[in-house]
Amino acid sequence: MSDQAWQRVLEPRTRPERVLVLGQSGMVGRAWCELLGSESIEHEALARPEFDLSDPESINRALDNRYDLVVNAAAWTDVDGAESDEQGANRANAHAVEQIARRCADFGLFLITYSTDYIFGGSASSPYPIDAPIEPLNAYGRSKALGESMLRAVSDHHLLIRTSWVHAPWGKNFVLTMRSLMQSRDQLSVVDDQRGRPSNAGSLASGSLDLYLAGAAGTWHLTDAGECSWHGLACEIREQLGRSCEINPCTSEAFPRPAKRPAYSTLDIGPTEQLIGPLPKWELGVRQSLGHSFG
Ligand SMILES: NC(=O)c1ccc[n+]([C@@H]2O[C@H](COP(=O)([O-])OP(=O)(O)OC[C@H]3O[C@@H](n4cnc5c(N)ncnc54)[C@H](OP(=O)(O)O)[C@@H]3O)[C@@H](O)[C@H]2O)c1
Repeated sequence: MSDQAWQRVLEPRTRPERVLVLGQSGMVGRAWCELLGSESIEHEALARPEFDLSDPESINRALDNRYDLVVNAAAWTDVDGAESDEQGANRANAHAVEQIARRCADFGLFLITYSTDYIFGGSASSPYPIDAPIEPLNAYGRSKALGESMLRAVSDHHLLIRTSWVHAPWGKNFVLTMRSLMQSRDQLSVVDDQRGRPSNAGSLASGSLDLYLAGAAGTWHLTDAGECSWHGLACEIREQLGRSCEINPCTSEAFPRPAKRPAYSTLDIGPTEQLIGPLPKWELGVRQSLGHSFG
């Protein structure tokens, strides 16, 4: 496929009849299950040990013609852990994605799967467009970039959605970690030299379904709107919780981690907003993850 073919808008689609969600226990997998339940769309969901990205047989067993849409929300998401097992990350984020895509192609199923802002190098100062050069700084980013190219080589019957800084009212994420730290500490230091876009898993699931219904195919960016640093995000969490904890900005060097992170990884969501309308502001997504009601 040429670069221009990466992002396409086909005819609007009808509601899926039967959806298979892979990675039910993750933030995005669970958000998808809640969304499909609230929309009364029939669905099944699989998680480990029944479905394992590292077991080709379990992938074959999971996918068949009972479904018309497959959502792959399962992935190796341990960014630091990938540094010491890049092969494992590649197996889950690239080779398994290729196999899922092949199986979907065999049965004519449409596939929605996710990629990351960490495929980009972080030297930009304005949002990354879809076709910006892919320059991952860490093993996780390389595994997702490999997954993107392997997916595109199999079939174009997919929606590959790059997202960033995902959080939810459940699971392991920055918003819930900060909430718990703010309950026990008077002072925190949070990295202020990485900027990006927080994304609520619920908005991500509903935006993904909207993109599908609107006829989107190929690669799209989907995050909440706006931009902040991790320090800015922590300050917003503190404000929404009404806490008084002191939050000091610090550099990434003060918090050495096995995997290097991009300094700037905001994704350009302009084309997505043109197709499905304005995306919710990230502050609203944080409110939702903290369990506050809208408004
Ligand atoms: N989280 C982020 O900040 C972020 C940012 C950019 C892109 N993304 C992408 O968004 C998608 C959804 O991730 P998420 O945010 O929902 O992450 P998550 O909460 O960490 O969920 C990951 C899911 O993948 C499952 N999984 C991991 N290894 C597996 C394996 N070998 N076989 C089967 N399932 C496996 C996990 O199952 P267990 O519960 O058994 O571990 C979990 O259900 C992923 O493609 C991720 O790369 C996430």
